[in-house]
Amino acid sequence: MEWVMGCWVLMAILIAWCWYRKEKNRTEEKDGVPKGNLGWPFIGETLNFISCGYSSKPVSFMEKRRSLYGKVFKTHILGTPIIISTDPGVNKVILQNHGNTFIPAYPKSITELMGEFSILQTNGNLQKRVHALVGGFLRSPQFKARITKDIEDSVKLNLDSWRDMHLIHVQEEVKKITFVILVKVLMSIEPGDDLDYLKREFEEFIKGLICLPIKLPGTRLYKSLKARDKLFKMVKKIVEERKRAMEKPREGGEDDDEDIIATATTTTNDVLDVLLGHVGDGNEKQPLSLDFITGNILEMMIPGEETVPTAMTLAVKFLSDCPVALQRLTEENMELKKQKSISCTDYAWNDYMSLPFTQNVISETLRMANIINGVWRKALKDVEIKGNVIPQGWCVLASFISVHMDEENYENPYKFDPWRWQKTGAVVNNNCFTPFGGGQRLCPGLELSRLEISIFLHHLVTSYRWVAEKDEVIHFPTVKMKRKLPITVTPFNNSVSLN
Ligand code: HEM
Repeated sequence: MEWVMGCWVLMAILIAWCWYRKEKNRTEEKDGVPKGNLGWPFIGETLNFISCGYSSKPVSFMEKRRSLYGKVFKTHILGTPIIISTDPGVNKVILQNHGNTFIPAYPKSITELMGEFSILQTNGNLQKRVHALVGGFLRSPQFKARITKDIEDSVKLNLDSWRDMHLIHVQEEVKKITFVILVKVLMSIEPGDDLDYLKREFEEFIKGLICLPIKLPGTRLYKSLKARDKLFKMVKKIVEERKRAMEKPREGGEDDDEDIIATATTTTNDVLDVLLGHVGDGNEKQPLSLDFITGNILEMMIPGEETVPTAMTLAVKFLSDCPVALQRLTEENMELKKQKSISCTDYAWNDYMSLPFTQNVISETLRMANIINGVWRKALKDVEIKGNVIPQGWCVLASFISVHMDEENYENPYKFDPWRWQKTGAVVNNNCFTPFGGGQRLCPGLELSRLEISIFLHHLVTSYRWVAEKDEVIHFPTVKMKRKLPITVTPFNNSVSLN
């Protein structure tokens, strides 16, 4: 019996070795394929990648290999041979994706949970259409003017409740602010039972995004898929009701598609209105199907849900550790509060966005936080970028964190220094600053996110002083605070500070 087992093990090792040699030869045969080490058969360099991810310096995995092989190198992590780029110029070409050479490549558990039509996985014209529709809406001044009041209400409601709390876990509290806004932006759900149900099931759903891709009853992925079914049903109902409401003017009339669109665009309140109102391009009118819209609304919650609260939390953390920056931020925001109180006018979205130091604090937070540390793509054909060949079928990771924490791009990169942005001006995105990605898939929620963070910081620093307990940032598998950032707050005496 033992010798049979021994044979099996030997055979498995042989197969693994053959596969590994084949993979190695396949890439080494091609000229220009970046240098690197594929590590051990099957596991590659995954263990080292994960241990660096858990350390306080996750970028050390990349830095070590960059010093050995150059800014673009190959490795084998999380079950895939992959080329990692730490070069801003190469990343730019990957993100621009002229010629549609690259498609998104996510881990198996994520693709299982995302529907086949999710914007995060679709490519070509359909992705461009949905991206343009959603981005155009979220960037529009009309939308920003309307959502500003909703964000203010949500921020104030939450901050008011801090007065009676002994210890505040910032990471938990800010999620309450941003989730309400996210579902309002996507489908205008107001606080209440529906929102609570959605929040509960959504939390269950996203727990499975990074897990073992095993779909058996009881497993994490299985539970998340069940939650997704429930969410889909609920969102589909909302989509159908809205569709019926939009079509009402047609009842008994002869209205055609143009009339429906005209009605829809004059009353575009949320992303759902935008997608339902779209009838297609060119001669062939092709409205987006209700299932497609439902899936997309649902999956747009994924990039929006964790990211903004994480940015808010890390801003509080970095400011707690840098009293001079907090002092300058408070002064700038107190000045705005004073002006508003004298003129007795409401805040407009551009009041918040035009505070230069506050915008610099947000840029610096996003640079250091690296909430999305890079994007994964797969090459559909051999492609050469700046002398590096990415072979067809290979994954490539455009590493944003490596660029953001590189001394060549930022002097003293580990120092929280909002003043550094004064020299470059208010940068939203460039080759060396890509917290929101870039090119074809540049985050459509970019301006909304910055607005939310600005409003939160304004009301926080003009309402409270705080003391943060010791805590540390964790980078793997996602960025968060180890202890959810506990703080104690003391209300500001506004009458004193406004004078
Ligand atoms: C600080 C907050 C945020 C950060 C750092 C962030 C970051 C990113 C990044 C890096 C990408 C590019 C992914 C890729 O190229 O594969 C992306 C895409 C996307 N983001 Fe955001 N995001 C944030 C907030 C939001 C919000 C609030 C929303 C929704 C309202 C949103 C919706 C999306 C969508 C729909 C995409 C996919 C675009 C496409 O593939 O065409 N994001 N985001």
